[in-house]
Amino acid sequence: MPSRTLTRASGALTALAGLVLTAAATSATATAAEPAADSTSATTAAPIVTVAHRGASAYAPENTLAAIDTAREMGIDWVENDVQRSKDGELVIMHDDTLTRTTNVEEVFPDRAPWKVSDFTWKEIRTLDAGSWKGEEWAGARVPTLDQYMKRVTQNRQKLVLEIKKPELYPGIEEEILTELRKSGWLSRAAVKNKLVVQSFGADSIKTVHELRPDVKTGFLGTPAVADLPDYAAFSDQINSNHGTMSAEYYAAVHALEGPHGKQLESYTWTVDDPARAVELAEWGADGIITNKPDLISEALEDAGFGVAAE
Ligand code: G3P
Ligand code: CA
Repeated sequence: MPSRTLTRASGALTALAGLVLTAAATSATATAAEPAADSTSATTAAPIVTVAHRGASAYAPENTLAAIDTAREMGIDWVENDVQRSKDGELVIMHDDTLTRTTNVEEVFPDRAPWKVSDFTWKEIRTLDAGSWKGEEWAGARVPTLDQYMKRVTQNRQKLVLEIKKPELYPGIEEEILTELRKSGWLSRAAVKNKLVVQSFGADSIKTVHELRPDVKTGFLGTPAVADLPDYAAFSDQINSNHGTMSAEYYAAVHALEGPHGKQLESYTWTVDDPARAVELAEWGADGIITNKPDLISEALEDAGFGVAAE
């Protein structure tokens, strides 16, 4: 048996013991704890996935094509991004809902405060320098459209955790994103099975994605109460949480459930740049680690026996 399986099994047993104790102590958690008691799925042999957060964003400007190319050069298959919408309806890759932190928008358009993404046309956004803030070597990097981004991820043979950022600002963006993914070939049976997760902090947004395309793998960003996890598992395949909120017990509670596709509910955990912490989370049960330093994290997980997803 691979060492990581032993480690995860051991961690899961500890977590299950914790859940049983919790269940004994309070009936309020009994419902969530009970499924874990007869679950064997926490011993899954699936390797832990390393996801390059906003691309390899410790080393290259986040959410640019350079950031995913840098991840590819490090041998990282999975990348994460953030999608928003311009004033004229172009889907663009951008984390903040303003352009100020990661572009030179204040210099180019000094009279356009507060420089919201949704206040600028694509023709305007495309002129911005999205690289110089990170370092002069990245000068001239551009904000990509989702179309450009999908072409490059495809060319790089990478896989994507696509985040719908602030969906409440962009009514209807779910359908637009799915249309773009379909045009890019990313809603084929093979693509939805192997290389795509759509996630959001917005539960309603993820529900909408699930309703529009039930075959697409989805993730909810957050750490719902254990008692509420079954509600999320109705429309979300993953519960992707801030690492500071995680514990072996919480991973066990997630793994005790099945998502909408009848597979064990998963948890990808963010944003973890410390290798020792990544290994700890892996031992507790993380299915994926989302990191700005995917080279360090994938190496640490590999060294600790947690493997890397094979092609
Ligand atoms: O993928 C998880 C992570 O991206 C969520 O936080 O703010 O970096 O989009 P944020
Ligand atoms: Ca994100």
